Amino acid sequence: MAEYETFEHDVLVIGAGGAGLRAAIEASAAGVRVGLVCKSLLGKAHTVMAEGGIAAALANVDERDNWKVHFADTMRGGQYVNQWRMAELHAKEAPDRVRELETWGAVFDRTKDGRILQRHFGGHKYPRLAHVGDRTGLEMIRTLQDHGIHQGIDVHMEHTILSLLKDGDRVVGAFGYERERGRFKIFRAKAVVLATGGIGRAYKITSNSWEYTGDGHTLAYDAGAELIDMEFIQFHPTGMVWPPSVMGILVTEGVRGEGGILANKEGKRFMFDSIPENYRAQTADTEEEGWRYCQGHKDARRPPELLTRDHVSRCIVREIKEGRGSPHGGVFLDISWIKQKMPNAAEHIKRKLPSMYHQFKQLADIDITEQPMEVGPTTHYIMGGVRVDPDTQMSRLPGLFAAGECAAGINGANRLGGNSLSDLLVFGKRAGEFAAKFARENQQGGLDSRDIDTVARQALAPFERRDGENPYGIQKDLQQTMQDLVGIVRIETEMREAFEKIGNFKARAEQTAVTGNREYNPGWHTALDLKNLLTVSEAITLAALERKESRGAQFREDYPDKDQRFSKVNTIVSKSADGSMQVRLEPLPEIPEYLKRVIEENK
Ligand code: FUM
Repeated sequence: MAEYETFEHDVLVIGAGGAGLRAAIEASAAGVRVGLVCKSLLGKAHTVMAEGGIAAALANVDERDNWKVHFADTMRGGQYVNQWRMAELHAKEAPDRVRELETWGAVFDRTKDGRILQRHFGGHKYPRLAHVGDRTGLEMIRTLQDHGIHQGIDVHMEHTILSLLKDGDRVVGAFGYERERGRFKIFRAKAVVLATGGIGRAYKITSNSWEYTGDGHTLAYDAGAELIDMEFIQFHPTGMVWPPSVMGILVTEGVRGEGGILANKEGKRFMFDSIPENYRAQTADTEEEGWRYCQGHKDARRPPELLTRDHVSRCIVREIKEGRGSPHGGVFLDISWIKQKMPNAAEHIKRKLPSMYHQFKQLADIDITEQPMEVGPTTHYIMGGVRVDPDTQMSRLPGLFAAGECAAGINGANRLGGNSLSDLLVFGKRAGEFAAKFARENQQGGLDSRDIDTVARQALAPFERRDGENPYGIQKDLQQTMQDLVGIVRIETEMREAFEKIGNFKARAEQTAVTGNREYNPGWHTALDLKNLLTVSEAITLAALERKESRGAQFREDYPDKDQRFSKVNTIVSKSADGSMQVRLEPLPEIPEYLKRVIEENK
């Protein structure tokens, strides 16, 4: 084997967003040696894009809230294909994780009597999102980072992992490269936690930055773990649409939680026309009632803008398709209208939504206290990911754990806003705890030098080719394909076309050529990321084809209704012995009686 710099840790955490940091903190607190690999600089994570808050039934603003209501909301939002045990653990443990974050220094907004303030968000029955203005994810990362750096964690910044290392079935480390000098490195570990986030970069319009190329999903899949629910992609209803350079950047749901309304070019509040039957009883009939809800009146029902994200996104797409969109291909989101309701509205908006105020002022020259924003759906989150044990977060491969967006189960067919931050905390902690336990109970495994040399040789191949293709062209074509053919509204013929195209992109990706040297070479990095983007795109497409129904985030024009046959199954994606991708349906674990009662009582 060639000489590679080698690091040894008990637990290696790959990914340093909320889940990775929380896992690293927990493992380190358990007394094992922890390494934390991040693709970017520490602190730069998609976690910061969960702006509006952390969902936890603290009951600070509405005493009727408790874990049972949160559990029932999460299951309903996920259209009952959630992994019930994860949803239960999440709802029960989220309040403690939020309070713990506060003891570590997170500075939350406050109620008048000094408790953590909570706001309304789509699909949550009560005001449940603990928040810091519209910078909650940022505050969470700052707090975890501050806490984590005092724990003796070894941080490897700007490193990309190319492959997991195995000893038999067991995962015993990872192999990757540092971006700065392009050198390969080996990370040996007794246990590995994947916390690499999502896949947003597989789509053209996304709130995700360049790092989110499905790395953890692909590493796990290649190593032999299973992926579940890959068809469920969340298109957040409100991303920026103008100017083109900022298209997709998130506009927090907190805007709607604070009373923001959606309107088409005719000025019509179109969401009132489209209230699904199962949400009718909980949804306001009038604008006044919706406003009173946002003001915290307990007798009022939620405005239709706060229905679940899948539904709101589809309504926006309909308005745009039918010619009632805004000038730049979105719809209007207006918070400035609250001037009619409160005297100091501009100050209130700036205090509650400071990032949105600056974002629109600086990027689009719009003053949101005076003018409406133009918004449209943006690829935000994947509900699907590595299949894990709900309690320990271990995959089917011994020693391989996953947490956060790259793991799956808690959200089912659709995630409620704010549940991601609580998910990161609850399951990041659990993954760290059980990875540390596994590491204490096992020795370092052996490495196969041939595997490592093969990965290194394949990674360097683009430098050897003279007439190969530019990786950016393939990435762009793939993003356009996924956007157009496996997007918000899906149909069999288009997805089959996407599948064929992905096959062609794979062949083209084998022939990429890059120039320059290995030091900070973004072309080379893009060539290496392509494999991951292609793997997750294929998995999304195959799973979406397999689920012949519409449920949650998956809307199929050819099967527009929910179908009983799919009401209790997950799609499972795995790699077969010949290397091809397989998809199958598998029954979900039965929900126990006591939780069925909780769901029934909270219908
Ligand atoms: O709209 C938002 O602030 C996003 C929150 C989330 O995705 O959880």
